[in-house]
Amino acid sequence: MTSHTTIQPKILYYGTPVVLLTTENEDGSTNISPISSSWALGNFVILGLGFGSHGLENLRQRPECVINLPDASMWQQVEALAPLTGSNPVPDYKRELGFRYEANKFQAANLTPVDSDIVRPKRVGECPLQLEAVVRTIRFPEYADMFAIVETEVRHVHADKQIVQSAHHVNPQAWNPLIYNFRHYFGLGDQLGKTYRSET
Ligand SMILES: Cc1cc2nc3c(=O)[nH]c(=O)nc-3n(C[C@H](O)[C@H](O)[C@H](O)COP(=O)(O)O)c2cc1C
Repeated sequence: MTSHTTIQPKILYYGTPVVLLTTENEDGSTNISPISSSWALGNFVILGLGFGSHGLENLRQRPECVINLPDASMWQQVEALAPLTGSNPVPDYKRELGFRYEANKFQAANLTPVDSDIVRPKRVGECPLQLEAVVRTIRFPEYADMFAIVETEVRHVHADKQIVQSAHHVNPQAWNPLIYNFRHYFGLGDQLGKTYRSET
């Protein structure tokens, strides 16, 4: 038995993969929003987006995106995006947090835009997994005035050949997601085991 104490953590980012969410701007260019609040349910991926995020505004107007998953080696490129927003003007509360407007986030983080197959926003070429998705619902929960829950359906998946095991399986030995762990970046450690339903 461990010994616990009660705390009031400022954040509850308990270690989820980083996503580089690409969405289409009004002028047809592509914005990149780094996020970590996401999870998959079958072919659906649920995203948590804060108000004031330009990515959310884009999705309300143009409901398509690419869920690009960087690997751990890309953490500095993700961090180069961290103080940037596609919102112009920058909302006051974001300016106070040190955010600045950036029109071309690909260039700012040295990333390569690649055309998508079925959605309009570009993919991030360096990300080993790129999920093209459409928005099914955006919920604005009445219990929170700061966040939206965006439910997407993944329609098309691109995987780097280096992490592919078969047409239906990603090789978990080769795929090393970037984990956001209480505002610090981590990769994965060594494998511990696997679930009884694993096919690989
Ligand atoms: C690693 C990381 C994880 C983040 N996770 C989220 C998140 O899950 N949801 C969110 O709304 N913002 C998250 N943010 C903050 C957004 O990146 C920030 O709101 C940014 O302004 C988004 O860009 P945009 O305004 O151009 O959409 C995260 C930032 C970083 C660096």
